[in-house]
Amino acid sequence: MESQKNPSHRQFLIAPSILSADFACLGKEVQDVLVAGADWIHFDVMDNHYVPNLTIGPLVCEAIRPYANKNGKPAVIDVHLMIEPVDRIVPDFAKAGADLISFHPEASPHVNRTLNLIRDQGCQAGLVFNPATPLDHLDHTLELLDLVLLMSVNPGFGGQSFIPSTLQKIAQVRARLDRYEAETGRHIHLEVDGGIKVDNIAQVAQAGADTFVAGSAIFGKEDYKQVIDAMRTELGKSGKA
Ligand code: DX5
Ligand code: ZN
Repeated sequence: MESQKNPSHRQFLIAPSILSADFACLGKEVQDVLVAGADWIHFDVMDNHYVPNLTIGPLVCEAIRPYANKNGKPAVIDVHLMIEPVDRIVPDFAKAGADLISFHPEASPHVNRTLNLIRDQGCQAGLVFNPATPLDHLDHTLELLDLVLLMSVNPGFGGQSFIPSTLQKIAQVRARLDRYEAETGRHIHLEVDGGIKVDNIAQVAQAGADTFVAGSAIFGKEDYKQVIDAMRTELGKSGKA
C-alpha cells in the first residue's frame, strides 16, 4: 500500500471530542482527559443548519481555555466548525483561545478567503471532508492548510459507526500529503473523526492517519487513561509510530 512509504517520524495525536463529555462539569472533563494522556481537545461546533444538531460556541471555548493544559503548557483546542456561514464567527473563536480552526468547504462560498481569515487571526487552519465530499478542494489549498480532517461518519452526532470506505480516502490523502511534505518540508496533520475505537484505531493509522478524534470511546468509559493507553498500544502495533 502506498501509505507504507510514509515518513516514520509521524507523531500520533489523540484528540478526544468533548461532545461526549459531561457538559455539567466540562472544565474538569477537559482537565481529566488531558491528565489521562490526551494530546488535543476536539471541540465540535454545530449550528442546527449545516448539521442537524446544536452544540457549543466561543463562550464555551473561552470557558474551557484555562483548563486545557498539558504538562504545564496550553494544550491545542482543535475547533471543528460544522456551521454555515463560517467567516463571521472565526474571530470570536480566535479570541476565545482556539488554536486550530477547521471548516467544511461546502459551508463557505470562498474557501481561500476563509482559510486566510483563520490564519490572519493567528490560528492554524483545516479543511474537513464529509464521507461523500470529493478531495478536489485540496488542489488549490494545501499551502494554506495545517490539517486535513476526514469525517468517517456523517457529521452531527457522536456515537455513530465508522464508515469503512474512509480507509481508502485516508490512504489517498496520506500519499498526497507525503508528496507535499517531501517537496516543501511542511507537515500537515491528517486527522480522522467519527467512530474511532480501541479496536479500529490501528487500522485507521495503517491507512495513514496521524491524529485521531474519539468521543464516545473515551468519554463513554469510566477510566479515560485506560482507553487512551489501550489506543496507544494499538497505535504502537500499527507499525507506523
Ligand atoms: C461528529 C463529530 C465528532 C464526534 C465523534 O459530527 O464531529 O467529533 O463527536 O464522536 P464519536 O467518537 O463518538 O464518533
Ligand atoms: Zn468533530
